[in-house]
Amino acid sequence: MDIRAGVVETATSPWGQTVPIHIAFYLIWVAAIGGLAFLMVHAIYVQFIAKKQAHVESASPELAAKVPEKVARHSLAARLFHWIMALAMFALLITAFLPKVGYQFPWVTYHWIAGLVLTASIIFHIIHASFWMDFWSIWPDKIDIEDAKRRWLRATGKAAPAPRKFAKYPMENKMYHLTIVLAGLAVILTGVFMMKRVRTPFFTRNPYLFGDMTWGLMYVLHGLAGVGLIALIMVHIYFALRPEKFVITKSMVFGTIPREHYLEHHDPERWAATK
Ligand code: HEM
Repeated sequence: MDIRAGVVETATSPWGQTVPIHIAFYLIWVAAIGGLAFLMVHAIYVQFIAKKQAHVESASPELAAKVPEKVARHSLAARLFHWIMALAMFALLITAFLPKVGYQFPWVTYHWIAGLVLTASIIFHIIHASFWMDFWSIWPDKIDIEDAKRRWLRATGKAAPAPRKFAKYPMENKMYHLTIVLAGLAVILTGVFMMKRVRTPFFTRNPYLFGDMTWGLMYVLHGLAGVGLIALIMVHIYFALRPEKFVITKSMVFGTIPREHYLEHHDPERWAATK
């Protein structure tokens, strides 16, 4: 049995070879329903099952006095990047998937234009993060991994020391970032090559740049990462709107978090507060 059947659509090349052409587009619904199921289960879990977090010991008054009333979390450049990337992402999802679910319009040009905006914003972000931001702050470190183990042990009823407070980013945010990096780089790298297949003002169209199999696999990877992004973005927006996380969402608009939030969730040794 061909295990690809169902997830990938194939065609027969002029040489009689069966080649993939793209994903089967019902995967759009798998991703959307999967994303919806995740957020429903999470909301029910938080509301009815999860134990209320034990009160975390508050910081000493001397330490609290040193923390500014509003702690800087995202610079203006970082916020502008985030919202430009988000707009490009929405435009890409809408132009890619509306035609596939029955709403037809000439989407390809809008799609690659949004693709170039996303690509440019990501290139900016990589340079900005490498030279102006704390590059390592978004990748899991030893303490995060140790604390994830502690949380797991405690959640499954075993004894373990209490996990520590976070540095700038909680482990979940770091894992989300890693996943979106992988999906984002996959659509960007494949999308840039796929521009050779369509008419653009930049270069002559050349659908023979790769063989049918390579093109097919490229379209499949583009599609798989693309539908993955539907679920990832749904989950991202859900968390951004949750009441206990809304303070973080506001920091993506105004740039800062309140002192109380910083002291409750962050370890000043791991992330120093600045104005
Ligand atoms: C959220 C990100 C993205 C999603 C969800 C997405 C999704 C899709 C989908 C579903 C298709 C149709 C593929 C098919 O028919 O098999 C497609 C085609 C295409 N995408 Fe994307 N894409 C994304 C990002 C990008 C980027 C960043 C670029 C360019 C830099 C790009 C350029 C293209 C091009 C040129 C096509 C080919 C159109 C064709 O051959 O008819 N995409 N995309």
